[in-house]
Amino acid sequence: MAEPDPKTFVTVKTTLPRKPYTTINVRPSITTERLILRALTPDDVQPLHIIRTQPEVMIWTSRGTVDKDLAATQNELAFFLPPKDETTFNFAICLRETGEMVGIGGHHNKMSSFGWPEVGYMFRKEAWGKGYGTEFLKAFVREYAALPREEVVLKIDPRTVTAPSGEGGRAGDGAGELLPVVEEQLVALTEINNSRSWGVMKKAGFEHFLTWVARDTRYEEHKPIELPAYRYFVGRPAAQ
Ligand SMILES: CC(C)(COP(=O)(O)OP(=O)(O)OC[C@H]1O[C@@H](n2cnc3c(N)ncnc32)[C@H](O)[C@@H]1OP(=O)(O)O)[C@@H](O)C(=O)NCCC(=O)NCCS
Repeated sequence: MAEPDPKTFVTVKTTLPRKPYTTINVRPSITTERLILRALTPDDVQPLHIIRTQPEVMIWTSRGTVDKDLAATQNELAFFLPPKDETTFNFAICLRETGEMVGIGGHHNKMSSFGWPEVGYMFRKEAWGKGYGTEFLKAFVREYAALPREEVVLKIDPRTVTAPSGEGGRAGDGAGELLPVVEEQLVALTEINNSRSWGVMKKAGFEHFLTWVARDTRYEEHKPIELPAYRYFVGRPAAQ
């Protein structure tokens, strides 16, 4: 399928978490069986730098390359620290037993290419294959879904819309025009070879809704690459 094109987007009524998010100085941590998801702090730059300088991790990001120095990691971390914590909901993912930060994840990008908010995550390679990715994503979507909501008007890719929800599926927008009411979604984007990440998304209750072909920005040749897109219906019961 073609890549998302904002010129084709449709305007809908839906819900999103109410902004601003709780600032990180008072944001509660989330505890799971083996992990603590806590607010990021400026002191996380060192462990984040370890993650962001592992080529095995960074190859799965849209840039594809490692951070060139600590200052580059500091810039990335700044996206989630005050004052930007009011628009992002991203967590340091730490081991409960030792407190060691092994990953970072959450709602890092205000809007995905499809117009819906996006979730993302990365773990240092030593922590892979132990189920932490799944444990994180399940806990994150539960917390995200429980945030207070507000009604919003949003421009979204029509291919993300299955069936309108709500009474009759339509509602007035207050300006005389009727806008479709659609179920809120959280989107996760991955690439065709990242089967670990699909595994995590599926187990956390995400469903694949389309695969599009983009130019691979990680390599100079910009070859075409398939990008499967997944979505999570925030208002539906969570995966166990
Ligand atoms: C993707 C990532 C978060 C997965 O984390 P993880 O803790 O290893 O994931 P989990 O152990 O919870 O689950 C991986 C699942 O994918 C499946 N899987 C598919 N191919 C796999 C592979 N080659 N190796 C391991 N698991 C694989 C497994 O079945 C596993 O499910 P299981 O527990 O039922 O066996 C981690 O590998 C990572 O940080 N990668 C680099 C960054 C990245 O890709 N981020 C996501 C961008 S979309």
